Amino acid sequence: SWTPDNIIDDQVAAIRERVGDKEVICGLSGGVDSAVAAALVHKAVGDQLTCVFVDHGLLRAGEAEQVEQDYVEATGVKLKVVDAADRFLGALDGVTDPEQKRKIIGREFIRVFEQAAREVAAEGDVEFLVQGTLYPDVVESGGGTGTANIKSHHNVGGLPDDLKFALVEPLRTLFKDEVRTLGTALGLPDAMVWRHPFPGPGLAIRIIGAVSRDRLDILRAADQIARDELTAAGLDRDVWQFPVVLLADVRSVGVQGDGRTYGHPVVLRPVSSEDAMTADWSRLPYDVIARISTRITNEVPEVNRVVLDVTSKPPGTIEWE
Ligand code: XMP
Repeated sequence: SWTPDNIIDDQVAAIRERVGDKEVICGLSGGVDSAVAAALVHKAVGDQLTCVFVDHGLLRAGEAEQVEQDYVEATGVKLKVVDAADRFLGALDGVTDPEQKRKIIGREFIRVFEQAAREVAAEGDVEFLVQGTLYPDVVESGGGTGTANIKSHHNVGGLPDDLKFALVEPLRTLFKDEVRTLGTALGLPDAMVWRHPFPGPGLAIRIIGAVSRDRLDILRAADQIARDELTAAGLDRDVWQFPVVLLADVRSVGVQGDGRTYGHPVVLRPVSSEDAMTADWSRLPYDVIARISTRITNEVPEVNRVVLDVTSKPPGTIEWE
């Protein structure tokens, strides 16, 4: 019968058998899939596993700390952190085209991960790479019905030949809800287990216009308020995702106190969905939206207008870029 303990025991045994005394590497993204996959492998082979976290500087408030502190504390994994924010922001400087942003981030990500993998491999006999592939990913790549044709998604796929590892994919037979149950059973923090899906290119594709440190700070502040209020209202699990988007090249006139402002709008994009292939805009209670709007315009000085996206997918996509 399906219990988290059975699955964990079976997987731990299977991973030990497969890996033997070799070394294993795993890229952590901050998302639940790679976190649970790595926790399972760590339970099986301990410090034969090295996790690599590439901080591209495009995560939301608190997310890097969640990986670097909370996750390490909860699991005891050996973690190599690469702070690559300067490199990513440098490569993105002045770039406004969405596909261009994605390509640059995907390319830089592979390069940075490759370098880190080489460093880890130089220290030991690394033969395996852990991936948090789920059952729907397996089906989707077979059926070819993904969204990859619409927007170029990135994952750690195209490593060069001298870095070809055998894959360990302990979640291949599982659905997302099962992965979450396992995550909790493995002692992962709730904030990680229940994190909404978040795109690999991060906040770069939620800034409409060029990406900069200042703009990221503005968006992070607004995003954190929206997430806090959603959580406070007890609605996290009713919403599939809640992107907050900064229209960085748009300005509108506002008034605050007795002063005129000329600030930026942010868009709230809460959606409900089963699998992200289609989505509907979430009918969040007006009082929750009102609190988010009031707080953002009070607490984030550069933002003087908050708008709600009421478009389903199709015709809109979930992300704005
Ligand atoms: P769209 O915007 O196409 O998004 O409706 C569908 C789902 O995919 C996520 N998304 C990505 N995830 N890398 C990812 O790992 C990406 O490049 C990427 N782009 C979009 C998006 O957040 C939504 O869940």
